[in-house]
Amino acid sequence: MKKILITGAAGQIGSELVSFLVEIYGRYNIVATDIKKYPGYLSLDCLDRDAVRYLVAERDIGVIYHLAAILSAKAENDPETAINVNNNGLYNILEAARRARCRVFVPSSIAVFSPGLPVIPAPQESSTRPDTIYGMTKAWGEMLCDYYAARHDLDIRGIRYPGLISSETEPGGGTTDYAVDIFYQAVKTGHYTCFLKKNTKLPMMYMPDAIQATVQLMSAPKKKLRFKNAYNLAAFSFTPAELARAIKKHIPEFRITYKPDSRQKIADSWPAAIDDAPARQDWNWNPRYDFATMVADMVSIVKNKPENGGN
Ligand code: NAD
Ligand code: SER
Repeated sequence: MKKILITGAAGQIGSELVSFLVEIYGRYNIVATDIKKYPGYLSLDCLDRDAVRYLVAERDIGVIYHLAAILSAKAENDPETAINVNNNGLYNILEAARRARCRVFVPSSIAVFSPGLPVIPAPQESSTRPDTIYGMTKAWGEMLCDYYAARHDLDIRGIRYPGLISSETEPGGGTTDYAVDIFYQAVKTGHYTCFLKKNTKLPMMYMPDAIQATVQLMSAPKKKLRFKNAYNLAAFSFTPAELARAIKKHIPEFRITYKPDSRQKIADSWPAAIDDAPARQDWNWNPRYDFATMVADMVSIVKNKPENGGN
């Protein structure tokens, strides 16, 4: 079989997607890469166009999961790098895919939507005029993928992920990162200072569901897909206060305080919920975890980490 390339594989999603794909296709068929060093991964900067093309040809790549990106909070602090990595990095990947006729997965985000949408949950087809640098790069990425699909007949698919909650690898500088950090602080110190206001509601999802959805979308028959770039994906929405109450059920002494910072403005521009009916209809998407089961699982996994006294 042709091999599967993953860029940005050392990140929050990549680290879990690689293990999942290795289980399905075997270690030999997975080429995991990142700009940062990671055991067993190859070094690949998606801004190095020649290196990307060489690797795709030399390793006989047939499918690319392009995860390398700069996330929302980091992007506001360093727009130049974010525009470069998120836009030019994607362009390099699509060009390599065009030459080698690869299928491609490109993640998008809830950050693509215009602030203050009149309809919530945000429908699949909504206004996408974001006012954050990250959102702009993601909206442009969706359009570039549509362009390559139409102009070069490439099979490119994508998901607008909500904020992802996971226990394997730290999140990489996003606005929804609080919903991961809070579990670690709750277990370690019993207290968390949240950088968002207590009533800021955002769409979220547990990582096992996000990984399942990604592989499910890439396996779906092309003719069933009405949108491709990119499908809304949802599981549940919550506020920091609601998350704190849910954690308290497992750790009764847990306390939360609030000290909003610049990430509040980013969160305020995103919809509180998104409508994923087309994903459910077209490729049978259905999350396994709800809010309560995600919280119970996260608390149990984080408590059992060796640094927290577990095995
Ligand atoms: P992450 O920040 O955890 O990982 C991104 C990886 O990209 C990092 O390991 C980083 O080293 C790598 N990288 C950065 N610049 C690079 C370059 N020039 N070349 C190669 N690699 C480079 O991000 P993630 O959470 O795993 O997100 C993966 C994708 O999913 C991104 O496109 C992101 O926008 C999207 N997404 C993530 C979330 C989320 O909540 N995690 C939500 C919506 C969308
Ligand atoms: N979770 C991501 C972020 O906060 C959204 O794409 O940046």
